[in-house]
Amino acid sequence: MNKPNYVVGIVGATGAVGQELVRLMHERNFPLSSLRLFASARSAGKTVERFGKKFVIEEAKPGVFADVDVAFFAAGGSVTRALATDAVKAGCLVIDKSSALRMEPNVPLVIPEINPEKLRNHDGIIANPNCSTAIMLMGLWPLHQAFGVKRVIISTYQSVSGTGAEAVRELEDQIQSYVAGRPIAHKVYPYQIAFNCIPQIDSFDANGYTGEETKMAQESRKIMGLPNLKVSATTVRVPVVRAHSISVSAEFERPVDLAKARAAIAAFPGAELVDDPANRKYPTPLDFAEKVKCGVGRLRIDTAFDNGLSFWVSGDNLWKGAAMNAVQNAELMIREGLLKPKAALTAV
Ligand SMILES: NC(=O)c1ccc[n+]([C@@H]2O[C@H](COP(=O)([O-])OP(=O)(O)OC[C@H]3O[C@@H](n4cnc5c(N)ncnc54)[C@H](OP(=O)(O)O)[C@@H]3O)[C@@H](O)[C@H]2O)c1
Repeated sequence: MNKPNYVVGIVGATGAVGQELVRLMHERNFPLSSLRLFASARSAGKTVERFGKKFVIEEAKPGVFADVDVAFFAAGGSVTRALATDAVKAGCLVIDKSSALRMEPNVPLVIPEINPEKLRNHDGIIANPNCSTAIMLMGLWPLHQAFGVKRVIISTYQSVSGTGAEAVRELEDQIQSYVAGRPIAHKVYPYQIAFNCIPQIDSFDANGYTGEETKMAQESRKIMGLPNLKVSATTVRVPVVRAHSISVSAEFERPVDLAKARAAIAAFPGAELVDDPANRKYPTPLDFAEKVKCGVGRLRIDTAFDNGLSFWVSGDNLWKGAAMNAVQNAELMIREGLLKPKAALTAV
């Protein structure tokens, strides 16, 4: 019997994550019967060529999902809030990259290497985590399974592509202006990002943490199923184009052991252990851009916590932090028979 193929829609297909989704559909041979690309009214009608095929960008608006089996949403929270319900009513599975619905109790927030069982119970929408949360958990989850995590202190080093396509252009323009001796303009970020670090991602809450920092805490608890996990994050934008890095110090319930920690990371499917400091071997963002796995290294016994470990993770924010995790969720649902094309359902 032929395997079923799917009508897939990508909402936000002209953006940083959307373009990676189109690429992954092609490179991972996603079982497509057709691919439809949606963006704002600004892009509607434009023709783009991707992997030898021409696509006309369609405006994402109510009614467009009637024939779509799966829609990947990567256009921001307001677009998800405006259109996801319409897609679900049309019988389309929504795999959302925005933060709009992640903490809704009836919306599973899934990393397939951690909580795949949550894909079995949903109301038509699957959420995907914030980029830094997904990448951090590729190191923390296997260590939690080995030792039982109870407290985490995080500092992030987040690339500009995490803000979107316009931010990448802003960094490139600023570098060119600097080299040419021209004045440096900024629009996307509150300060120049070239040759700088900005310790603000998202707006500040009353408690002094930013929205991004709060997301890391809340989403980690939901994905790991640890509602009482103590998390303190400081999220920082750095002048890197692609791949986030995260420094993590964690305290565990049980005594930690470095050899056992390394073995747990090495055995975990989402991680690659790169941990040979004597030979200057540790993960860097350049090495882990466009990699499926996240690199984990600099593992050491933490000197501030009892039963503590510190480590460093680098991972691709556009892949594991966004498009790849979303595609992996869809692939797993297909493998497990949890996602059927509408055409197959009506034929029965
Ligand atoms: N970048 C990351 O690393 C990352 C990681 C995790 C999650 N996310 C999330 O993924 C989403 C997309 O982020 P991004 O970085 O790809 O942003 P981006 O590069 O700014 O792209 C935004 C996309 O949304 C489209 N869009 C904007 N307004 C729209 C509207 N009213 N109707 C339909 N489409 C609209 C844009 O289309 P036009 O070209 O027509 O304007 C564009 O395709 C966001 O929710 C973000 O928080 C991003």
